[in-house]
This record gives sequence, C-alpha cells and structure tokens, in this order.
Amino acid sequence: MKGIVFVKFNEFVEELWGEEFWDELLDEAELTSEGAYTTVGSYDDQELFSLITLIVEKKSISSKDAQFAFGKWVFKELYNAAPPGVHDFKDVFEFLHAVQDFIHIEVKKLNPDALLPEFEFLSESATQLSFHYQSPRKLCYFCEGLVRGLAEHTEQKVIVTQSECEHEGDKRCVLEVEKI
Ligand code: HEM
Repeated sequence: MKGIVFVKFNEFVEELWGEEFWDELLDEAELTSEGAYTTVGSYDDQELFSLITLIVEKKSISSKDAQFAFGKWVFKELYNAAPPGVHDFKDVFEFLHAVQDFIHIEVKKLNPDALLPEFEFLSESATQLSFHYQSPRKLCYFCEGLVRGLAEHTEQKVIVTQSECEHEGDKRCVLEVEKI
C-alpha cells in the first residue's frame, strides 16, 4: 500500500491517542519498516493490518469501527493531495463515479505500483446508489468510511450500509448509499 496511507494512519492515531501511543504500537508491532513511513514509499499491507489489530486489542474497539473511522478521517487528506481536476465534483454520487472513472486512474498513472479498488455500479436513482466494491484487500469498512468523509465534504447527508459483505459470509461486498 502507498506510503500516503501509512503516513496518514500515523497522523490519525496520533491525533486520536497521542504520539506515545503510536510509539507503543511501533514497539510492539515489530514492523519490517519500523514505522519510518514516507509518502513516496510503498509498504506491506500487512503492516497496516498489524497496527489495526493492536489498536483493536488496546482500545477495545472493533476492526470494523477502526477501519471506518480511519476512512472517514482520511478522505479530506486524500482530497487535499489529489491530482488536479478532482476538485470539480460536488455531489457524492457524481464523485463516486469519478473515483472509478477518473480519480483512481490518475492516481495509478502517478503511482504505477498502487493497487486501487474497482467499483461496479449496480443501481442508481436520485437518492440511492449501490456499487460492488472489489479489492483483494477487503477494505470495505474503510471504503464505507471514505464515503461518509466524502459526504461531509460535499455537505450532503447520507446513510452508508452494505447489503452484502464478504466479512459477513456473502460472496461480495455491495455498498448502498442513500441520500437523506
Ligand atoms: C480525492 C479523492 C481520492 C484520492 C486522491 C484517492 C487515492 C487513493 C490512494 C492513493 C489509495 C492507496 C492505493 C494504494 O496504496 O495502492 C487509495 C485507496 C483506496 N481508495 Fe481512494 N482516493 C480518493 C477517494 C476515494 C473515495 C471517495 C473512495 C470511496 C468510495 C475511495 C476508495 C478507496 C479504497 C477503498 C482504497 C483502499 C485500497 C483497496 O481497497 O484496495 N477512494 N485511494
């Protein structure tokens, strides 16, 4: 996973629980990178999962909640670091299409080693949109959080749920976004 995700995860944890807690995680996680993350680097996905597992143990929160909270928080950070043109999309549904058709494509051009999720749009009306989230990383809860962070940014109220989820025994993850 790209370094920006790790650098932002570090900032997120320090903002919530402080620098000492981050150092405590690094001491215990025994990561190959030793947590010396830079935005230009790439790191083993497993390092992120190890850090999340430790947080889950230490803070008594679920992995789902931790991933959701990070996704919601990190949207504005990705947005600020986004390629030009991203800032033209003002509506959640329009933005989600743009993530698939434009934003992640631009990200991939700039970082050929990035592994981006694929969204297959299944249905859409004025108030409802559903899409199949596909990624070997299975970060659907993180994705839910990103959608919520996006809606905060566009100042729209949405409910985000999953009608199918691989973590719940289904064959795929389907995110449902409803404007309220
Ligand atoms: C300004 C907008 C955005 C930018 C610049 C951006 C960029 C990125 C980058 C750099 C990564 C890391 C890829 C890697 O490490 O290989 C990533 C991952 C991801 N992005 Fe985006 N993103 C944006 C918006 C969104 C939105 C709104 C969603 C949600 C619908 C989303 C869903 C994801 C997910 C779920 C991942 C995790 C990787 C995975 O699932 O395999 N992104 N994005």
